[in-house]
Amino acid sequence: MQALDKQIRVAVIGAGAMGSGIAQVAAQAGHVVYLHDQREGAASTGRDGVAKQLQRRVDKNKMQQQEVDDIIGRIHPVSALSEVADAGLVIEAIIEDLEIKRALLNELENLCGEDTIMATNTSSISITALGARMQRPGRLVGMHFFNPAPLMALVEVVKGLATDKAVADRVYATASVWGKKPVVAASTPGFIVNRVARPFYAESFRLLQEQTASAATLDAVIREAGGFRMGPFELTDLIGHDVNYAVTTSVFNAYYQDPRFLPSLVQKELVEAGRLGRKSGQGFFSYGEGIERPVAQTESARPCDQTRLIVEGELGPAAVLVERLGAAGFEIIERDGPGQLRFGEAVLALTDGRMASERAAADGVDNLVLFDLAFDYSTTTRLAVTAAGQAATKAIDDACALFQKANIAVSLVDDRPGLVVMRTVAMLANEAADAALQGVASMGDIDLAMRAGLNYPNGPLGWSDLLGAGVVFRVLSNIQNSYGEDRYRPALLLRKNHFAQKGFYS
Ligand code: NAI
Repeated sequence: MQALDKQIRVAVIGAGAMGSGIAQVAAQAGHVVYLHDQREGAASTGRDGVAKQLQRRVDKNKMQQQEVDDIIGRIHPVSALSEVADAGLVIEAIIEDLEIKRALLNELENLCGEDTIMATNTSSISITALGARMQRPGRLVGMHFFNPAPLMALVEVVKGLATDKAVADRVYATASVWGKKPVVAASTPGFIVNRVARPFYAESFRLLQEQTASAATLDAVIREAGGFRMGPFELTDLIGHDVNYAVTTSVFNAYYQDPRFLPSLVQKELVEAGRLGRKSGQGFFSYGEGIERPVAQTESARPCDQTRLIVEGELGPAAVLVERLGAAGFEIIERDGPGQLRFGEAVLALTDGRMASERAAADGVDNLVLFDLAFDYSTTTRLAVTAAGQAATKAIDDACALFQKANIAVSLVDDRPGLVVMRTVAMLANEAADAALQGVASMGDIDLAMRAGLNYPNGPLGWSDLLGAGVVFRVLSNIQNSYGEDRYRPALLLRKNHFAQKGFYS
């Protein structure tokens, strides 16, 4: 399918944060862009904002002045909606309100040509509902950019029940030519990203609520071991808790209160207190001149009085860790076993979703110390570690010494099912698997959306495959058993893959 020709004019309605950014993207791709806003002067302000952004690039020698002048010259603020009549593509980015958006779409249908494509940047309203009162709902499609639109690569092309395939294909091809990474999604609550990302926040919020570790510690573990750009606490402080909490609540209600999407009381209280994050000066952390961020809990250095590391069986996803420990100078002795390490008094294993105390009792190993998943064990600078309630202090000391010798900082957290990164990744994969099962998007598009839209180090389904068939399923089954809650039920596709001994892509 062909992208829109450059000669075709694009109209952007709503010149706020998103509309201005989208106008910039379309103008950079060579289109003449009409920018309209109901508020007087807002469209010009929007264009000035784009000019300011681009000027910074000129100042840094990243763009030519002429190029910027040409782009800005193509953005035309228009004060009357009727002036967009000859646009071939209209993208609305006005207030997130079903009735107001419907009224605008009706007006646009009366103004524009029969072939004009109507796109909406809504992040939460059903495309089907938006199109229901249009004369030709087939021409309406979601074109969901991420903030800031000029920088974020992802565009979710969202199809409502009535959306013509040719229209969605055209918008997909156009987004691609505009330098974006489009994915196709069915119009379901949260589309792909705002649904699949919920556990990233929810699991850490719950761990905080259960006093597992401090917000700064959980952030550090997710960032350093998980490979995510930001931890959930610093990220939601940046997004704004009012915004993030509203998305969670809307997805929770849209899925008829499925406990998987349960909003957090901890975050609700922040909203109630007006601690909205950076923008209000306080969220999980405090902001302002001279205020220092609390540091992550890190275990003090332990003396290392052992040289031999016994590896009993295969460590699965943590196999690379053994290589790293070997390179740190330990003598590795391999023998059969259930997939664990013996070092001094400690018996160490990767979490399988059970609490350490539960697993220690079941396996008859008192000195059990569990460690967390890392995105890359060969480079991680930190690991979350927890010990069974039965474990001797010396076992914990030995476990710390082992990791510290390989330059891995240890954050000792309370004993909770699935630790931190493993639990987060397992729940992300679970949500992604359910979205795939329900035909929200293809598996490849779900993974791409999470990487391009949120900079995740890996797509959740691909990540699940890397861990090995059945790993995520077992972790979730164990977490579900520990909590006795439906929230952690493994998705059907994970169950299927587990029994078929297959991955999502194999
Ligand atoms: P914003 O509040 O910054 O801008 C909205 C603009 O629309 C305002 O300038 C307002 O005057 C104008 N407006 C309102 N009603 C109008 C009407 N009937 N006709 C013409 N102009 C009208 O909002 P923002 O953040 O740019 O969001 C716009 C849309 O994009 C919403 O649907 C939102 O859900 C969606 N979105 C927002 C993202 C974000 O991170 N802010 C990300 C992705 C989508």
